[in-house]
Amino acid sequence: MSELHDTYDRKIDYLRLSITDRCNLRCRYCMPEEGVAVKPHTDMMSYEEIIAFAHLAAKAGISRIRLTGGEPLVRKGVVELVSSLSAIEEIKEVSITTNGILLAQHAQDLFNAGLRRVNISIDSLDPLIYTKMTRWGQLDQALAGMDAALAVGMVPVKINAVVLKNVNDDLEPFAQLTMDYPVHVRFIEYMPAFYEEGHDNFISGEELEAKIFALGSVDKSESPGGAGPARYFKLAGAQGTLGLIGSSKGHFCESCNRLRLTADGKLRTCLFSDQEIDLLPALRGGSPQDLMNLIERALREKPKDRFARREGKINRKMSQIGG
Ligand code: GTP
Ligand code: 5AD
Ligand code: SF4
Repeated sequence: MSELHDTYDRKIDYLRLSITDRCNLRCRYCMPEEGVAVKPHTDMMSYEEIIAFAHLAAKAGISRIRLTGGEPLVRKGVVELVSSLSAIEEIKEVSITTNGILLAQHAQDLFNAGLRRVNISIDSLDPLIYTKMTRWGQLDQALAGMDAALAVGMVPVKINAVVLKNVNDDLEPFAQLTMDYPVHVRFIEYMPAFYEEGHDNFISGEELEAKIFALGSVDKSESPGGAGPARYFKLAGAQGTLGLIGSSKGHFCESCNRLRLTADGKLRTCLFSDQEIDLLPALRGGSPQDLMNLIERALREKPKDRFARREGKINRKMSQIGG
């Protein structure tokens, strides 16, 4: 089986594929109320183009694909897409990152199509705080999505919570969730480079880690599956784990395994780099070798770590990259 390695000899086998930058929520740390300007349809990759690229990337060494957005479940035909991607021989795993609002209605079909892992963004277990953070989300819908994912047998089910000081920084209810359900709650350090609001409410990864240890008898834990930026901890007697995703210290960079493809066909080499390689011309008029050359270019140009970039705002919102 082929393998992809970058200049720093990191094995790159994980592709984060954003299939839309639209979303049915407006999380305050992610999107303005009016949403992001939508691009013309023709600027977006079609499913045929996504699938063609996935086949090529899989032959080259990608074995795991995570669908992201915006909110991936708002794009029609996502179940069929999962089915086509899961059918690619070299792809061992297709997963999705969703806000969970539409998950209850799609969970069984997604599972039948081959989806086995899901990460669901739920920033608070208090209905009022949840709605405040998402602007109009209903907590019971997101929790119904979590229940459905567990019921159809997805493993692991991870919950993402971006933590903001004095907004949703009471971690206790999440700790209780891991006692009651086999779910893995990851507290995410807010990344200010992607958004202009929320800076006053920043809590660092170190502070979050201290808050996790203050929850009770906590030990380091194995990852519940997946090879991402999170570090995991477990409360004594819990079914699930608590995780921490920091980014300001760049802990994950040394073992970074990922490439990202935006919904408009740009390959991004690092979450924190504005560098983009446009695949659309090659997807629409080029040969497989042209596309392969672009993948190789991305590997050559993938930066060593998040500090390779000057400080300041990133040119796309998180919802236009997919996290
Ligand atoms: P798995 O390990 O496959 O479960 O995925 P994940 O945790 O990487 O994915 P998810 O989409 O749930 O993202 C959770 C958070 O991690 C989001 O806030 C992402 O922006 C962040 N994230 C994803 N990739 C990276 C990365 O390369 N570096 C850092 N620092 N954060 C990342
Ligand atoms: N900082 C950290 N995480 C963010 N996400 C969205 N915007 C930000 C940000 N500015 C998270 C979402 C979702 C994941 C894909 O990225 O909450 O869980
Ligand atoms: Fe939508 Fe996710 Fe951004 Fe929230 S964080 S607005 S759910 S894309």
